[in-house]
Amino acid sequence: MFAPSADRNSADICELIQSLVSPKTHALEIASGTGQHISALATAMPDVHWHPTDVDSARLASISAYTQELGLTNIAGPIFLDATAAGWGASMPAVDLVLLTNLLHLISAGECRTLILEAAQALSPGGTLMLYGPFKRSGVLTSDGDARFDADLRASDPNIGYKDDLDMRTWLSDAGFARVAVNQMPANNLAFVARSTSS
Ligand SMILES: C[S@@+](CC[C@H](N)C(=O)[O-])C[C@H]1O[C@@H](n2cnc3c(N)ncnc32)[C@H](O)[C@@H]1O
Repeated sequence: MFAPSADRNSADICELIQSLVSPKTHALEIASGTGQHISALATAMPDVHWHPTDVDSARLASISAYTQELGLTNIAGPIFLDATAAGWGASMPAVDLVLLTNLLHLISAGECRTLILEAAQALSPGGTLMLYGPFKRSGVLTSDGDARFDADLRASDPNIGYKDDLDMRTWLSDAGFARVAVNQMPANNLAFVARSTSS
């Protein structure tokens, strides 16, 4: 599977993640999609252990296909993970980094809060959560394209749509993330980088 959007933002995501890992880091990706991002990350950072997940069996197969095609030995077999389900965070070995791109606008606010709480549980003390995607700024949709996309999402399901950056800060703080940096990314996206408390 190939997603043009994943191809477009892959280099910028790689550059950001480079600054968040060290050799031997274990990194869990939520909603890995086609596998383009994690295979690019694994190629660029061969000393990091990558753990892809998704809810969709076709996408899990696509991730495996990229891994095999590129001969990557630092990507674990992809596993099914519903990141909006309560309980997954404590059910697996702790990781140093959890990363997610482009899912939060497709789920409800309640599911988003659950995902953040579970990611906090999945991290070892001092671990990092990176959340990338389109967001409102202080309640405002800041481009015509974002306003259209958000309206389309809400028309398909009134419970989903863009989350607000201020709500994100509250939800991250509530989940125990003490330090949160917000990075402006291309195409008007944001990347939240949150550190869990170290003890
Ligand atoms: C817009 S795609 C983003 C894929 C990839 N992260 C990217 O940026 O190209 C959304 C992905 O989220 C997955 N997904 C949807 N609901 C999910 C859930 N509850 N838990 C985990 N993944 C989910 C879909 O299967 C799909 O692969």
